[in-house]
Amino acid sequence: KKVVLAYSGGLDTSIILKWLQVTYGCEVVTFTADLGQGEELEPARKKAEMLGIKEIFIDDLREEFVRDYVFPMFRANAEYEGLYLLGTSIARPLIAKRQIEIARQVGADAVCHGATGKGNDQVRFELGYYALEPDIKVIAPWREWDFKSREALIAFAEQHQIPISKDKRGEAPFSVDANLLHSSSEGKVLEDPWVEPPEYVHMRTISPKDAPDVATEITIAFEKGDAIAIDGVEMSPATLLTRLNELGRANGIGRLDLVENRYVGMKSRGVYETPGGTILLQAHRGIESITLDRGAAHLKDELMPRYAELIYNGFWFSPEREMLQALIDKSQEAVRGEVRLELYKGNVRVTGRRSPWSLYDQELVTFEEGKVAYDQRDAAGFIKLNALRLRSLGRRKNRLGA
Ligand code: ARG
Ligand code: SIN
Repeated sequence: KKVVLAYSGGLDTSIILKWLQVTYGCEVVTFTADLGQGEELEPARKKAEMLGIKEIFIDDLREEFVRDYVFPMFRANAEYEGLYLLGTSIARPLIAKRQIEIARQVGADAVCHGATGKGNDQVRFELGYYALEPDIKVIAPWREWDFKSREALIAFAEQHQIPISKDKRGEAPFSVDANLLHSSSEGKVLEDPWVEPPEYVHMRTISPKDAPDVATEITIAFEKGDAIAIDGVEMSPATLLTRLNELGRANGIGRLDLVENRYVGMKSRGVYETPGGTILLQAHRGIESITLDRGAAHLKDELMPRYAELIYNGFWFSPEREMLQALIDKSQEAVRGEVRLELYKGNVRVTGRRSPWSLYDQELVTFEEGKVAYDQRDAAGFIKLNALRLRSLGRRKNRLGA
């Protein structure tokens, strides 16, 4: 019996590791992913070795994450409940996929994650596992063990010689999830939705109040809906997002304080920082504004909340998500060109866009009378026929008063 554990190297997943060994008596394989969370991964290896692990996987998944998950999602301009850029939601399917690959490689019959029984993440991990390996055994320690308190967990850790840093002895002030797209903070000091998040919660942006008094101007180039260059310099997806994060951080961009509806039914309050993603979304909408036809643009905007909800709820590996993705990808064929943006004190503003694939026709909109295809007299009939119903209704209303 062998289990592949999604292992961060932190205290909680170290306790899970030991708990698996003690409770199931099984061999544990650890998997630690670099998704750009900005933490050293070698300490995770050391810790796993110290806990007696023989098979340790540490994978840099940053490029795959941005190229195959973040960018496809941004082609849709996905936002959950109008605001959340899905930074945690989009990372879970990739972790699940890699975990299943490792399970196959090492001949493990089970996988294990450290998400609680109250949140979305358990759903996302496990829907991913089951979609890719229908008969896999899933272990979710937070739903199984009977530690009743933080003290009980710490006592277990001490009993098994798991190193505990001083600041981890008490309750953590809030729970964090981070990757190249965002950091998310939830719980504890953030639980009362009326209480303003303390400044120290923020970890990847300076406050807009402290941001420079001069604006930063950048140009982003797009190919088929994906950003490929900043200021004329081509970059790989992960490098580009890293650069946008730096620019966003310095200008206080991408902070969000949100109460959202979890898939499991409860409301929760989170503080998000998505500096690069916030810039990317504005830029993408900017390039779409000149390259997408109205019918195409409005259809994908109508479908966007459905698509976002599928990702939020953990259905990345579902036929309906793939169908929507095919539609969205098709819409992006001519989404190419450049967008110029101004970054200033927490704001992102599009200040220009241009493209050889542009549908914007200056001849058509110009107020000067031209020889072009638009004849203002045509608009009279267009309006009259559109008004036909409204006039019938208006007459009835005047006649009957209702
Ligand atoms: N509420 C966010 C989501 O469901 C983030 C969840 C994980 N964040 C955390 N701080 N543990 O996608
Ligand atoms: C957790 O409960 O593990 C994190 C929060 C969430 O999954 O929504």
